[in-house]
Amino acid sequence: MAALREASRLARAASGEAVDRLPVWLMRQAGRYLPEYQALRQVHDFLTLCETPELAAEVTLQPLRRFELDAAILFSDILLPLRLLGAELAYVDGRGPQLTGLGDLSRVAFPTSDQVASELGFVGEAIRLVRRELDPATPLIGFAGAPFTLLSYLLEGGPSTDFARTKALLNQDQPAFVRLLAGLGELSYQHLALEVAAGADLVQLFDSWVGTLAPSDFTAVVAPVMTELIGRLRALGVPVIYFAPQTAGYLPTVAATGPDVVSVDWRLSISEARRLTGRPCQGNLDPAVLRDGPAGRIEREVERIVREWGPAPGLIFNLGHGVDPRTPLDHVSRLVDAVHRVRP
Ligand code: CP3
Repeated sequence: MAALREASRLARAASGEAVDRLPVWLMRQAGRYLPEYQALRQVHDFLTLCETPELAAEVTLQPLRRFELDAAILFSDILLPLRLLGAELAYVDGRGPQLTGLGDLSRVAFPTSDQVASELGFVGEAIRLVRRELDPATPLIGFAGAPFTLLSYLLEGGPSTDFARTKALLNQDQPAFVRLLAGLGELSYQHLALEVAAGADLVQLFDSWVGTLAPSDFTAVVAPVMTELIGRLRALGVPVIYFAPQTAGYLPTVAATGPDVVSVDWRLSISEARRLTGRPCQGNLDPAVLRDGPAGRIEREVERIVREWGPAPGLIFNLGHGVDPRTPLDHVSRLVDAVHRVRP
């Protein structure tokens, strides 16, 4: 069974091998644009969906019943492991996630791998349930937050536009910043090792906010932690995708941290991403195009991206960020069909 998934179009593209049809999946494919997800959310809050393996597995599988996607991604959230540091986590409608109760971060205690395994046991259980129902040829993507993005949530306590607290620590006490980043790198590793042990076939690191950094700070502070983390994950035998939006100004340094695939946003052309990374790339349709359509524009944009990538192998079609909750379902099927029709 695992051999089938190793030969999947997604795995082949991730290792730069040719495919008969381009693989496509969508960040946030499991979620609010699906009426069957909304129906479950009427009954359960978001954390309950994440923490109940049967429900998380069900939500993971929902988009695959509707669309011919080339991968499933586990339904979960990057912020769940931060509760192991003593944070309380709440998802507040309209305000995004809120982390409270952390106190002095310089004294925060990082969990042992046994604690991670027991506190995040529901994640492994959800993966095992998904694997039981998912087509044996379809890969399952596990994911975690990358250390910088996790640290920015810890320091800001929620979404931020200027990352003032994060930058204050970076500017005023770089050793403390690096210590926290290293601890979070270990937490990301434990989280993903658990997912791989449970059956995840590939892993993606989400570094949603790292693009707020200057190239010099990314290089000096974040890149060493990412290089170590990615090296350890690849040693587990799974391909690693690094999602680092808004880093067009230092994409070669992002690629040099060693992921199999770099996942880019829509602010640079995919040909530029290929040139700057020199490796397989994932992206890069603007989620607003998928939301707004019309269908003809979605199809033309798919053709444009594939043409810009060119004939080389190594393209994984995706959005540049997550599916917008207002996206009509028929736009998603038009996108998936268009990607599968186009000659790689
Ligand atoms: O991609 C998938 O379908 C898998 C599930 C998934 C979720 N979150 C479910 C979710 C994944 C991969 C994530 C990653 C995630 N979570 C990121 C990185 C990707 C990105 O968008 O930049 C971040 C920054 C988070 C933190 C987070 N979780 C935020 C900011 C929010 C609220 C804002 C929002 O987009 O809804 C969440 C909640 C969340 N995570 C929801 C879902 C389906 C919405 C919950 C609901 O209201 O039902």
